[in-house]
Amino acid sequence: MTTTPEKPSMGELQEREHGIGHDYAKGSPHIRHHAIRDRLIGDLHALVREVIERNGQCHVLELGAGHGTFTDHLLAAGARVTVTEMSEPSVRFLRNRFQRNPNVTVLHDEDGTAACRTGRPDAVVCVSVLHHIPDYLGAVKELVDRIVPGGAFLSAQDPLWYPRRSRLSMSLDRNAYFAWRLGQGQLRRGLATRLRRLRGVYDEANEADMVEYHVVRHGVDEEALRALLVPEFAEVEIRRYWSTQSGLLQSVGDRFCPPSTFGLVARNRR
Ligand SMILES: C[S@@+](CC[C@H](N)C(=O)[O-])C[C@H]1O[C@@H](n2cnc3c(N)ncnc32)[C@H](O)[C@@H]1O
Repeated sequence: MTTTPEKPSMGELQEREHGIGHDYAKGSPHIRHHAIRDRLIGDLHALVREVIERNGQCHVLELGAGHGTFTDHLLAAGARVTVTEMSEPSVRFLRNRFQRNPNVTVLHDEDGTAACRTGRPDAVVCVSVLHHIPDYLGAVKELVDRIVPGGAFLSAQDPLWYPRRSRLSMSLDRNAYFAWRLGQGQLRRGLATRLRRLRGVYDEANEADMVEYHVVRHGVDEEALRALLVPEFAEVEIRRYWSTQSGLLQSVGDRFCPPSTFGLVARNRR
């Protein structure tokens, strides 16, 4: 990994945030809340089933697998999975977890190029990953170019593009997050982050500004992704939903709040 003291690499920053003993579930609504998690698991099973029906097999490339929470479900659905991770401690965890499973290959993706070492997958899965990648449109284009005909692309749990959202939507989302942070006893960190965001200041050496790259900037442009995927797949579906960290605010928001987050599935690669 190449680094300079002033500007750490993305791999280094991801490692700082997702280091040894990192708890992926703690701040992740898609793992914490059963309604979001169960829907995602259902989508993963459906995707693998569909691809197997069409292509007779399903080799999934799962980007940024964390500790493999969703890898298990891809395997249970019948896929062979190549997982990538930028954080070295998470790579070690994954290698240990799946060491006896011949259907899992773990790649350490230090610089975001591991996809080129996987051959051509039948499907690509990115759960809560695109918002970490500065050039996510370029990355998705490269990934999609590798998917074989009949294959699929699924992404989940990214923040909707902020410029298209109403003030009310943004404010409900931000305040729900802030309330959750207060509940964690992290008033000082919450306030410091809020002030930096209000000033629009980003520090390239600070993992709080760099790791959740698009969460702290403008969100992820779901319509630009759709435009990129539509010519390549027979069907593209975007699902928008409310998502926040606190269990109570999640159940209230499910009924009353505008969507904050999206997932998408693209089926049947041309
Ligand atoms: C929010 S976590 C999600 C982990 C897992 N997918 C889940 O939902 O439990 C994002 C993960 O993506 C990894 N990551 C970020 N950018 C990446 C990239 N370009 N290639 C591979 N992994 C990446 C980070 O190290 C981190 O573990």
